Amino acid sequence: MAWTATSTLCCRLIRLPSARCPPPSLARCSATSAARSPDAVDIEYADLNLRPLYPIRGQHLRIRQHVNPLSSSFSEPTEPPEWKEVFEDPLLPLMIDIGCGSGRFLIWLAKNSDQRRNYLGLEIRQKLVERTQFWVNELGLRNVYFMYANATVSFEQIISSYPGPLSLVSILCPDPHFKKRHHKRRVLQPPLVDSITKNLCLGGQVLIQSDILEVAADMRKRFDGYSDILAHVDRVDKDLHCDNEGWLLDNPMGIRTEREIHAELEGATIYRRMYQKIRDASH
Ligand SMILES: C[S@@+](CC[C@H](N)C(=O)[O-])C[C@H]1O[C@@H](n2cnc3c(N)ncnc32)[C@H](O)[C@@H]1O
Repeated sequence: MAWTATSTLCCRLIRLPSARCPPPSLARCSATSAARSPDAVDIEYADLNLRPLYPIRGQHLRIRQHVNPLSSSFSEPTEPPEWKEVFEDPLLPLMIDIGCGSGRFLIWLAKNSDQRRNYLGLEIRQKLVERTQFWVNELGLRNVYFMYANATVSFEQIISSYPGPLSLVSILCPDPHFKKRHHKRRVLQPPLVDSITKNLCLGGQVLIQSDILEVAADMRKRFDGYSDILAHVDRVDKDLHCDNEGWLLDNPMGIRTEREIHAELEGATIYRRMYQKIRDASH
């Protein structure tokens, strides 16, 4: 779904597919998108077979639509976990998804990707993280872990303790915080861009995307500023193509995120960039 007042309402209560009939509070949602979006998400992630793990019919997971990352409760970095307790092999290359939402995207990759990697999701809404980690435990996956954290202030501390290389960071459809005075609430702030760029291993990649051009352009401007260290992937991989404006034409991950599914269902364009680290800052 596109970022409109309607989608704001729709997101306030994340409804699970067992109860698709919108209550009166969601009456402003378009009947079509309210009915089809959860189906589309279920279809995309069908092979995870999470349905039996959803709450039973009539019980909804009530999740706040937004939290304010600038509130005092989110000002301190979250402590990193004991890596050997959360991953079977904590030396594997790591992918971090910043603002991972429901986590289905990362769980799908952890189950289906042919890369030998660990996957870490950072998410500021605690209930989402609790549900996702419940799914991970039920599925018995030992290469994916979700943390309740404000990524903006916690990323550096978390990644600097990880014993393996950081091979991929994704920031996919972050909250737009449209008003100019709220831009400082956006997850991607200069210290985070700096930390991602510094901590990526050589050859490591960053994927950014949004269905809001202004948000995608804001992220792009920040990473384009590191052109001495990061190259856009179409320069290093001739199979990856961009449009005339430099946006990647295709999703390189083989799976869409939930926001991406909703946005495409509404006919929105996804603006993507993917960078690769080509040298260390010191060179
Ligand atoms: C629009 S959702 C997109 C979720 C997912 N990436 C997708 O594409 O479907 C953005 C997510 O980022 C989370 N988020 C926002 N600010 C954050 C922060 N500072 N640290 C971690 N997560 C954050 C929100 O709670 C929300 O789940």
